[in-house]
Amino acid sequence: MNNSPGPLKPSSSPASSRLRLVAMAAVALGIVLLAAGAVFWLRPQGPTQVTNSGVIQVAKGTAMGGPFELVDQNGGTVTQAQFAGQFMLIYFGFTHCPDVCPTELQTMANALDMLGPDAPRVAPIFITVDPERDTPDQLKGYVAAFHPRMIGLTGSPEQIAAVAKAYKVYYSKAPSPSGGGDYQVDHTSFVYLMGPDGGLRSLFRSGISDKAMAMEIRNQLRQSS
Ligand code: NI
Repeated sequence: MNNSPGPLKPSSSPASSRLRLVAMAAVALGIVLLAAGAVFWLRPQGPTQVTNSGVIQVAKGTAMGGPFELVDQNGGTVTQAQFAGQFMLIYFGFTHCPDVCPTELQTMANALDMLGPDAPRVAPIFITVDPERDTPDQLKGYVAAFHPRMIGLTGSPEQIAAVAKAYKVYYSKAPSPSGGGDYQVDHTSFVYLMGPDGGLRSLFRSGISDKAMAMEIRNQLRQSS
């Protein structure tokens, strides 16, 4: 049996160099997409507009979010499908966060209360980026301290990585300034308003006032009622 390559398969065929070209083009495209992503986050005035109040107006059809499967503060499985028809007000953070997370969650809770009778149309959700420490039990007391309706979600590191990726959330463990082998988690801190169809409606910058957040949520509720 002759195993040497036939004339149709020379070791450096035009086909294989074409493959190499395609691979190089794919890498180049990947770099361009990464750069575009960085530009989107660093200069949100591109496809979106930031108002003075901290509301980021998103272009219709901006792809963000998507199906998730996580575990709530009572240990039950929660999927995005369970929120179909409802708005979701989502924040990613971790319970050991010293300042930014508690501030944002309090803003969400206040904004929700300002909606009055419309509040039940919005599900306030806290998703941890620290699933190792933020067990359902740990989340339970934490979210309840902000709002009785606040839902705390955790999951396996893989489940959290998947939902963070879908929402374009960056998070990374860093040594705690207090030392002792403790760590904190650097993370993106936007608040996301997702519509009843699961699509992104508004983004809120951290530090936004509760009044400005409530006003934008009310605008969005009005547009979809
Ligand atoms: Ni935080």
